[in-house]
Amino acid sequence: MADATHSTGMIRVWDPLVRIGHWVLVVAFATAYLTEGEPEWLHVWAGYAIAATVALRLLWGVIGPQRARFSDFVTGPGRAVAYLRDLIAGRAERHVGHSPAGGAMTVALLVTLGVTAFAGMGTLAAEEGEGPLAGIVAQIPETDGPRAYTGDHDEDEHGEHGEESAWKEVHEVAANLTLILILLHLGGVALASARHGENLARSMVTGDKRA
Ligand code: HEM
Ligand code: HEM
Repeated sequence: MADATHSTGMIRVWDPLVRIGHWVLVVAFATAYLTEGEPEWLHVWAGYAIAATVALRLLWGVIGPQRARFSDFVTGPGRAVAYLRDLIAGRAERHVGHSPAGGAMTVALLVTLGVTAFAGMGTLAAEEGEGPLAGIVAQIPETDGPRAYTGDHDEDEHGEHGEESAWKEVHEVAANLTLILILLHLGGVALASARHGENLARSMVTGDKRA
Protein backbone atom coordinates (compact mmCIF):
# COMPACT_ATOMS: atom_id res chain seq x y z
CA MET A 1 0.00 0.00 0.00
CA ALA A 2 1.48 3.38 -1.03
CA ASP A 3 1.53 6.36 1.33
CA ALA A 4 -1.13 8.93 0.42
CA THR A 5 0.49 12.13 -0.91
CA HIS A 6 -1.15 15.44 -0.02
CA SER A 7 -0.99 18.41 -2.41
CA THR A 8 1.42 20.01 0.09
CA GLY A 9 4.20 17.49 -0.59
CA MET A 10 3.53 15.89 2.78
CA ILE A 11 2.55 12.28 3.23
CA ARG A 12 0.46 10.69 5.95
CA VAL A 13 2.67 8.37 7.97
CA TRP A 14 1.18 7.92 11.46
CA ASP A 15 -2.50 7.03 11.69
CA PRO A 16 -4.65 8.40 14.55
CA LEU A 17 -4.37 5.26 16.68
CA VAL A 18 -0.56 5.37 16.63
CA ARG A 19 -0.53 9.11 17.43
CA ILE A 20 -3.19 9.13 20.14
CA GLY A 21 -1.71 5.94 21.60
CA HIS A 22 1.72 7.60 21.69
CA TRP A 23 0.56 10.64 23.62
CA VAL A 24 -1.57 8.54 25.97
CA LEU A 25 1.62 6.57 26.76
CA VAL A 26 3.54 9.80 27.42
CA VAL A 27 0.94 11.24 29.81
CA ALA A 28 0.17 7.93 31.52
CA PHE A 29 3.84 6.98 31.96
CA ALA A 30 4.65 10.36 33.48
CA THR A 31 1.66 9.99 35.81
CA ALA A 32 2.45 6.39 36.84
CA TYR A 33 6.15 7.06 37.28
CA LEU A 34 5.79 10.25 39.29
CA THR A 35 3.03 8.90 41.55
CA GLU A 36 5.20 5.84 42.44
CA GLY A 37 2.14 3.93 43.62
CA GLU A 38 0.43 6.74 45.61
CA PRO A 39 -2.34 7.80 45.37
CA GLU A 40 -3.07 4.26 44.36
CA TRP A 41 -6.21 4.92 42.28
CA LEU A 42 -4.35 7.40 40.06
CA HIS A 43 -1.27 5.23 39.76
CA VAL A 44 -3.27 2.11 38.96
CA TRP A 45 -5.50 3.80 36.38
CA ALA A 46 -2.51 5.34 34.64
CA GLY A 47 -0.97 1.86 34.61
CA TYR A 48 -4.12 0.29 33.16
CA ALA A 49 -4.22 3.00 30.47
CA ILE A 50 -0.69 1.91 29.53
CA ALA A 51 -1.59 -1.79 29.55
CA ALA A 52 -4.62 -1.19 27.32
CA THR A 53 -2.70 1.07 24.92
CA VAL A 54 0.16 -1.44 24.61
CA ALA A 55 -2.28 -4.32 23.98
CA LEU A 56 -4.11 -2.32 21.32
CA ARG A 57 -0.83 -1.27 19.72
CA LEU A 58 0.36 -4.90 19.54
CA LEU A 59 -2.86 -5.85 17.74
CA TRP A 60 -2.57 -2.77 15.49
CA GLY A 61 0.96 -3.84 14.62
CA VAL A 62 -0.57 -6.88 12.92
CA ILE A 63 -3.85 -5.58 11.46
CA GLY A 64 -3.19 -1.80 11.17
CA PRO A 65 -2.13 0.26 8.13
CA GLN A 66 1.30 -0.21 6.50
CA ARG A 67 3.38 2.18 8.64
CA ALA A 68 1.91 0.86 11.88
CA ARG A 69 2.78 -2.76 11.09
CA PHE A 70 5.66 -4.58 12.73
CA SER A 71 6.44 -6.08 9.32
CA ASP A 72 7.15 -2.51 8.10
CA PHE A 73 9.78 -1.66 10.71
CA VAL A 74 11.07 -4.66 12.63
CA THR A 75 14.56 -5.55 11.38
CA GLY A 76 17.45 -7.55 12.78
CA PRO A 77 19.67 -5.95 15.44
CA GLY A 78 22.46 -5.67 12.86
CA ARG A 79 20.53 -3.15 10.77
CA ALA A 80 19.50 -1.16 13.85
CA VAL A 81 23.12 -0.92 15.01
CA ALA A 82 24.33 -0.03 11.49
CA TYR A 83 21.69 2.72 11.28
CA LEU A 84 22.78 4.15 14.66
CA ARG A 85 26.41 4.12 13.56
CA ASP A 86 25.49 5.96 10.35
CA LEU A 87 23.28 8.39 12.28
CA ILE A 88 26.14 9.36 14.58
CA ALA A 89 28.51 9.64 11.60
CA GLY A 90 25.96 11.88 9.86
CA ARG A 91 25.37 9.59 6.87
CA ALA A 92 22.20 7.71 7.83
CA GLU A 93 19.50 7.25 5.19
CA ARG A 94 16.20 8.95 5.95
CA HIS A 95 13.21 6.66 6.54
CA VAL A 96 9.61 7.73 6.08
CA GLY A 97 8.30 5.13 8.55
CA HIS A 98 10.34 4.02 11.57
CA SER A 99 14.08 3.76 10.98
CA PRO A 100 15.60 0.37 11.95
CA ALA A 101 16.65 1.88 15.30
CA GLY A 102 13.24 3.55 15.77
CA GLY A 103 11.58 0.21 15.10
CA ALA A 104 13.80 -1.56 17.65
CA MET A 105 13.04 1.15 20.21
CA THR A 106 9.31 0.81 19.51
CA VAL A 107 9.43 -2.92 20.26
CA ALA A 108 11.65 -2.44 23.34
CA LEU A 109 9.35 0.23 24.78
CA LEU A 110 6.19 -1.79 24.18
CA VAL A 111 7.78 -4.82 25.90
CA THR A 112 9.09 -2.96 28.97
CA LEU A 113 5.87 -0.94 29.34
CA GLY A 114 3.84 -4.17 29.14
CA VAL A 115 6.07 -5.98 31.67
CA THR A 116 5.96 -2.98 34.04
CA ALA A 117 2.17 -2.78 33.95
CA PHE A 118 1.72 -6.55 34.35
CA ALA A 119 4.14 -6.67 37.29
CA GLY A 120 2.23 -3.71 38.78
CA MET A 121 -0.94 -5.79 38.63
CA GLY A 122 0.99 -8.62 40.31
CA THR A 123 2.18 -6.22 43.02
CA LEU A 124 -1.36 -5.06 43.70
CA ALA A 125 -2.80 -8.56 43.64
CA ALA A 126 -0.12 -9.81 46.05
CA GLU A 127 -0.76 -6.86 48.38
CA GLU A 128 -4.53 -6.88 48.40
CA GLY A 129 -5.72 -10.02 46.68
CA GLU A 130 -7.92 -7.96 44.42
CA GLY A 131 -7.87 -5.99 41.16
CA PRO A 132 -9.27 -7.08 37.77
CA LEU A 133 -6.34 -9.32 36.89
CA ALA A 134 -5.85 -10.76 40.38
CA GLY A 135 -7.65 -13.93 39.29
CA ILE A 136 -5.29 -14.42 36.36
CA VAL A 137 -2.21 -13.65 38.40
CA ALA A 138 -3.36 -16.16 41.02
CA GLN A 139 -3.29 -18.89 38.33
CA ILE A 140 0.46 -18.52 37.95
CA PRO A 141 1.83 -21.63 39.75
CA GLU A 142 3.70 -20.94 42.96
CA THR A 143 6.67 -22.84 41.57
CA ASP A 144 6.90 -20.80 38.38
CA GLY A 145 7.26 -17.07 37.91
CA PRO A 146 8.14 -14.16 40.19
CA ARG A 147 5.91 -15.42 43.01
CA ALA A 148 8.16 -18.42 43.44
CA TYR A 149 11.01 -16.09 44.33
CA THR A 150 12.41 -17.49 47.54
CA GLY A 151 15.93 -16.15 47.61
CA ASP A 152 15.31 -13.37 50.08
CA HIS A 153 12.76 -13.54 52.83
CA ASP A 154 14.18 -10.61 54.73
CA GLU A 155 11.81 -7.79 55.37
CA ASP A 156 12.17 -4.88 52.99
CA GLU A 157 11.96 -1.25 53.98
CA HIS A 158 8.16 -1.43 54.30
CA GLY A 159 8.30 -4.48 56.56
CA GLU A 160 6.95 -6.77 53.81
CA HIS A 161 8.13 -10.26 53.00
CA GLY A 162 9.78 -11.91 49.99
CA GLU A 163 6.93 -13.34 47.93
CA GLU A 164 5.12 -10.06 47.47
CA SER A 165 8.26 -7.98 47.03
CA ALA A 166 9.31 -10.19 44.09
CA TRP A 167 6.52 -8.70 41.98
CA LYS A 168 7.36 -5.32 43.39
CA GLU A 169 10.99 -5.72 42.51
CA VAL A 170 10.21 -6.73 38.93
CA HIS A 171 7.79 -3.79 38.77
CA GLU A 172 10.36 -1.28 39.99
CA VAL A 173 13.24 -2.59 37.86
CA ALA A 174 11.04 -2.68 34.72
CA ALA A 175 9.77 0.87 35.41
CA ASN A 176 13.32 2.17 35.71
CA LEU A 177 14.49 0.26 32.64
CA THR A 178 11.59 1.85 30.73
CA LEU A 179 12.68 5.28 31.93
CA ILE A 180 16.22 4.67 30.63
CA LEU A 181 14.81 3.58 27.25
CA ILE A 182 12.65 6.72 27.13
CA LEU A 183 15.70 8.92 27.68
CA LEU A 184 17.50 7.10 24.85
CA HIS A 185 14.31 7.41 22.77
CA LEU A 186 14.27 11.19 23.25
CA GLY A 187 17.95 11.38 22.35
CA GLY A 188 17.35 9.32 19.22
CA VAL A 189 14.38 11.44 18.16
CA ALA A 190 16.38 14.65 18.67
CA LEU A 191 19.43 13.36 16.80
CA ALA A 192 17.46 11.90 13.88
CA SER A 193 15.41 15.13 13.64
CA ALA A 194 18.59 17.21 13.48
CA ARG A 195 20.35 14.94 10.97
CA HIS A 196 17.38 14.71 8.59
CA GLY A 197 16.32 18.34 9.00
CA GLU A 198 12.78 17.54 10.11
CA ASN A 199 10.75 17.76 13.30
CA LEU A 200 9.89 14.13 14.08
CA ALA A 201 7.99 15.06 17.24
CA ARG A 202 5.67 17.28 15.20
CA SER A 203 5.02 14.36 12.83
CA MET A 204 3.89 12.34 15.85
CA VAL A 205 1.30 15.10 16.42
CA THR A 206 0.15 15.84 12.87
CA GLY A 207 0.80 12.38 11.41
CA ASP A 208 2.49 13.87 8.33
CA LYS A 209 6.08 13.86 7.05
CA ARG A 210 7.83 15.41 4.06
CA ALA A 211 7.44 13.12 1.07
C1 HEM B 1 6.77 8.50 28.28
C2 HEM B 1 7.48 8.85 27.24
C3 HEM B 1 7.40 8.18 25.89
C4 HEM B 1 7.07 6.90 25.54
C5 HEM B 1 6.67 5.75 26.46
C6 HEM B 1 7.17 6.82 24.09
C7 HEM B 1 6.92 5.67 23.35
C8 HEM B 1 6.98 5.59 21.98
C9 HEM B 1 6.60 4.45 21.17
C10 HEM B 1 6.03 3.13 21.74
C11 HEM B 1 6.80 4.77 19.88
C12 HEM B 1 6.47 3.91 18.67
C13 HEM B 1 5.23 4.50 18.02
C14 HEM B 1 4.41 3.47 17.32
O1 HEM B 1 4.83 2.93 16.31
O2 HEM B 1 3.29 3.19 17.82
C15 HEM B 1 7.33 6.11 19.83
C16 HEM B 1 7.66 6.78 18.67
C17 HEM B 1 8.01 8.11 18.64
N1 HEM B 1 8.07 8.98 19.72
FE1 HEM B 1 7.84 8.51 21.64
N2 HEM B 1 7.55 8.04 23.60
C18 HEM B 1 7.68 8.89 24.67
C19 HEM B 1 8.01 10.22 24.63
C20 HEM B 1 8.17 10.95 23.48
C21 HEM B 1 8.35 12.38 23.40
C22 HEM B 1 8.33 13.33 24.62
C23 HEM B 1 8.52 12.70 22.09
C24 HEM B 1 8.76 14.03 21.46
C25 HEM B 1 9.66 14.87 21.88
C26 HEM B 1 8.43 11.47 21.34
C27 HEM B 1 8.55 11.37 19.98
C28 HEM B 1 8.40 10.23 19.24
C29 HEM B 1 8.58 10.16 17.80
C30 HEM B 1 8.98 11.31 16.89
C31 HEM B 1 8.35 8.84 17.42
C32 HEM B 1 8.46 8.27 16.02
C33 HEM B 1 9.86 7.77 15.85
C34 HEM B 1 10.19 7.51 14.40
O3 HEM B 1 10.05 8.44 13.58
O4 HEM B 1 10.61 6.37 14.08
N3 HEM B 1 8.23 10.42 22.21
N4 HEM B 1 7.41 6.59 21.11
C1 HEM C 1 3.78 1.07 33.09
C2 HEM C 1 3.12 1.67 34.07
C3 HEM C 1 3.65 1.78 35.49
C4 HEM C 1 4.78 2.42 35.95
C5 HEM C 1 5.80 3.20 35.14
C6 HEM C 1 4.82 2.20 37.37
C7 HEM C 1 5.83 2.67 38.23
C8 HEM C 1 5.90 2.45 39.58
C9 HEM C 1 6.95 2.90 40.46
C10 HEM C 1 8.20 3.68 39.99
C11 HEM C 1 6.65 2.50 41.72
C12 HEM C 1 7.46 2.74 42.99
C13 HEM C 1 8.41 1.57 43.13
C14 HEM C 1 8.40 0.94 44.51
O1 HEM C 1 8.32 1.65 45.52
O2 HEM C 1 8.47 -0.31 44.56
C15 HEM C 1 5.40 1.78 41.67
C16 HEM C 1 4.75 1.21 42.76
C17 HEM C 1 3.55 0.54 42.68
N1 HEM C 1 2.83 0.24 41.55
FE1 HEM C 1 3.27 0.84 39.67
N2 HEM C 1 3.72 1.46 37.76
C18 HEM C 1 2.99 1.17 36.63
C19 HEM C 1 1.80 0.42 36.56
C20 HEM C 1 1.15 -0.16 37.64
C21 HEM C 1 -0.07 -0.92 37.58
C22 HEM C 1 -0.84 -1.25 36.29
C23 HEM C 1 -0.37 -1.29 38.85
C24 HEM C 1 -1.52 -2.09 39.40
C25 HEM C 1 -2.55 -2.54 38.72
C26 HEM C 1 0.66 -0.77 39.73
C27 HEM C 1 0.70 -0.94 41.09
C28 HEM C 1 1.69 -0.47 41.91
C29 HEM C 1 1.67 -0.62 43.36
C30 HEM C 1 0.59 -1.34 44.18
C31 HEM C 1 2.84 0.01 43.83
C32 HEM C 1 3.28 0.17 45.29
C33 HEM C 1 4.26 -0.87 45.67
C34 HEM C 1 4.60 -0.70 47.13
O3 HEM C 1 5.34 0.25 47.44
O4 HEM C 1 4.09 -1.50 47.91
N3 HEM C 1 1.58 -0.08 38.94
N4 HEM C 1 4.97 1.76 40.35
